Amino acid sequence: MKGNHTESGETMKIIQLYGAKIPAIGLGTWDLRGSECVQAVMSALEIGYRHLDTAQFYQNEEEVGKALSQSPVRREDIFLTTKVWPTYLHYQDVIATLGESLRKLRTDYVDLFLIHWPSLSVPLEETFEAMKVLLEQGKTRYIGVSNFSAEQLEPAYAMAPAPLLTNQVEYHPLLSQKEILQFCQKHEMFLTAYCPLVRGRSLQNTIIKDIASKYGKSIAQVTLRWFIQQEKVVAIPKALRPEHQKENIEIFDFELNEDEMKAISHLDRGERVVTG
Ligand SMILES: NC(=O)c1ccc[n+]([C@@H]2O[C@H](COP(=O)([O-])OP(=O)(O)OC[C@H]3O[C@@H](n4cnc5c(N)ncnc54)[C@H](OP(=O)(O)O)[C@@H]3O)[C@@H](O)[C@H]2O)c1
Repeated sequence: MKGNHTESGETMKIIQLYGAKIPAIGLGTWDLRGSECVQAVMSALEIGYRHLDTAQFYQNEEEVGKALSQSPVRREDIFLTTKVWPTYLHYQDVIATLGESLRKLRTDYVDLFLIHWPSLSVPLEETFEAMKVLLEQGKTRYIGVSNFSAEQLEPAYAMAPAPLLTNQVEYHPLLSQKEILQFCQKHEMFLTAYCPLVRGRSLQNTIIKDIASKYGKSIAQVTLRWFIQQEKVVAIPKALRPEHQKENIEIFDFELNEDEMKAISHLDRGERVVTG
């Protein structure tokens, strides 16, 4: 596991692919709005987050941009992702909407630009053609997809104009993503887990609780540790509260054993928060 080291030990796992350095825990920003969003992003950067996830659809790129411009953390030290919504997947729309995102985010480039959901009507080739131009113009460093099934991912990977860095999908102990994860692990991709904490809802089961009390950690910390001990997995928990933000990256001073990893994986019951 590659990581950043301090005197007290590892503080973040870094995934390295095609020259990109992606912190394995990022801050999700869905549902963060207005000054609350600016504050949350500022506090996350102060606490040590260097990976932010937003989207045109979240209507908070302006606020994320404001926080980026006010924070003393340098832009080049942050891995920033945004996404294009499926109604804007025609060539000209993709070009125009990323331009709009960059203006709102107050930056010349994003690190990763994702297709938020696959389109039923716009051919993927057309969207990829626009993404190729955006890569050439330096407006995004990398491209990827989100909410692609294993069946959709394989052809997308094969026809992409540049390596697809990730498929961002819902993934947590209650929802296995075995096929997509295996595909990512076999190819030069990582899986980004969204709703990693099941939106704070249903991880109150005895298995995770028992493991948490054994290590003196919270349920969220054990869950996030489970992600980062998997090969090529990144998780982007959303947390408004600084105490949650802090908790969610204080996961580098304990390690789950193989039985604990397996026990958490066995909690899978195909439960989805986001149904599309
Ligand atoms: N690509 C897509 O289609 C897609 C879809 C959904 C989400 N996403 C991305 O994934 C990110 C994460 O998913 P999500 O926001 O849906 O859900 P989530 O990260 O699973 O859960 C967020 C909830 O968990 C709470 N929480 C955070 N840390 C906690 C802790 N240590 N202890 C207890 N509760 C804690 C938060 O509370 P507070 O906020 O009050 O701190 C918030 O209510 C999103 O923000 C977004 O960036 C992408």
